[in-house]
Amino acid sequence: MVLVTGGTGLVGAHLLLHLLENGENVRAIYRKQNNIQKTKSFFELYKKADLFEKIEWLEADILDIPSLEITFIGIEYVYHCAAFISLDPKDEDLLRKTNIEGTANMVNFSIAKGIKKFCFVSSIAALGDLAAHETIITEETEWNPEKPHSDYAISKYGAEMEVWRGLQEGLDVIIVNPGVILGPIPKSKTCEQGSAEFYVRVANGLSFYTLGSTGFITVNDVVRVTFELMKSGIKNERFTLIAENIVFRDIFNTISDALKVKRPSIHAKPILVNFAWIADGILSALFFRKRSITKATAKASYSKSLYSNEKIKTALGTVFQDVHQYINDVAKL
Ligand SMILES: NC(=O)c1ccc[n+]([C@@H]2O[C@H](COP(=O)([O-])OP(=O)(O)OC[C@H]3O[C@@H](n4cnc5c(N)ncnc54)[C@H](OP(=O)(O)O)[C@@H]3O)[C@@H](O)[C@H]2O)c1
Repeated sequence: MVLVTGGTGLVGAHLLLHLLENGENVRAIYRKQNNIQKTKSFFELYKKADLFEKIEWLEADILDIPSLEITFIGIEYVYHCAAFISLDPKDEDLLRKTNIEGTANMVNFSIAKGIKKFCFVSSIAALGDLAAHETIITEETEWNPEKPHSDYAISKYGAEMEVWRGLQEGLDVIIVNPGVILGPIPKSKTCEQGSAEFYVRVANGLSFYTLGSTGFITVNDVVRVTFELMKSGIKNERFTLIAENIVFRDIFNTISDALKVKRPSIHAKPILVNFAWIADGILSALFFRKRSITKATAKASYSKSLYSNEKIKTALGTVFQDVHQYINDVAKL
């Protein structure tokens, strides 16, 4: 049997569906009964409601040892997708606790219970920093603690350290480092977490674009490739999962066209983005609200980060789904 954490989130829900479609028996954890509905909605969207009934749900928190221990009974393989995702500096403590301590708990139980293979869903945020002579970030690029990193990136990097410790203690592991993961377009126009925010911001009428870039991938590719890695003889390695590096302006244009809304037309140069970041900080301090632009998101919006997907293509011969085509397809769902 397979244990999946984060099954009420974008990746975990799609992974549960993919595992079930491939004949696996799955157990998923939840913290709030209501959130299971999110998973059900994904299954219904793909007309797979019958498969949803096959998930065994157990209430557990990755930070709560007694509840977590029960979820490991009869488990052979673990996919650890649960994480807290936030770029708000006020969330630093919860980020570190959930992502590092939570992953340590998952690793410790996996060692103690003799799990055959453990998969950790990390992020490109946990990959290294380019040295002056380098141009593209790979799995081998070294993390430079002197460089600025978001608390989220530090927490995912710290989580990876826990997974590598597990390897030292005898656990077979796989780490995947996806780029921005695109899933179905949310029906509501209220602010969603994670990559759904891309759609929501464009749908609500985004005026600005930047010429920064990052790696993108569809959620279907993330779960398909992760499953293939877990089924293969490959172990104790990490793999960057991106379909392509895309400039933010281009992804916004594709989403705008797919949603039939006006394309963002004003180029937000770094100086303007930094001004917006400072103004947002002042407003959030005055009105005690969460920050919508942080130093890290401001910098990320104009950084031209390039990621290589050569390692996974060589290992599995992976061909990725076209991200622009995917956006057009999900807009019709
Ligand atoms: N989305 C992206 O663009 C992206 C890109 C790269 C990497 N990733 C990584 O991919 C993984 C999945 O991301 P996602 O987009 O699916 O995130 P998501 O939609 O925000 O889902 C997060 C999941 O983690 C669970 N969770 C959080 N804290 C928990 C805790 N203490 N105990 C148990 N479960 C907990 C949540 O459960 P509740 O429903 O109870 O809150 C939810 O199921 C994460 O590890 C993330 O770092 C995501």
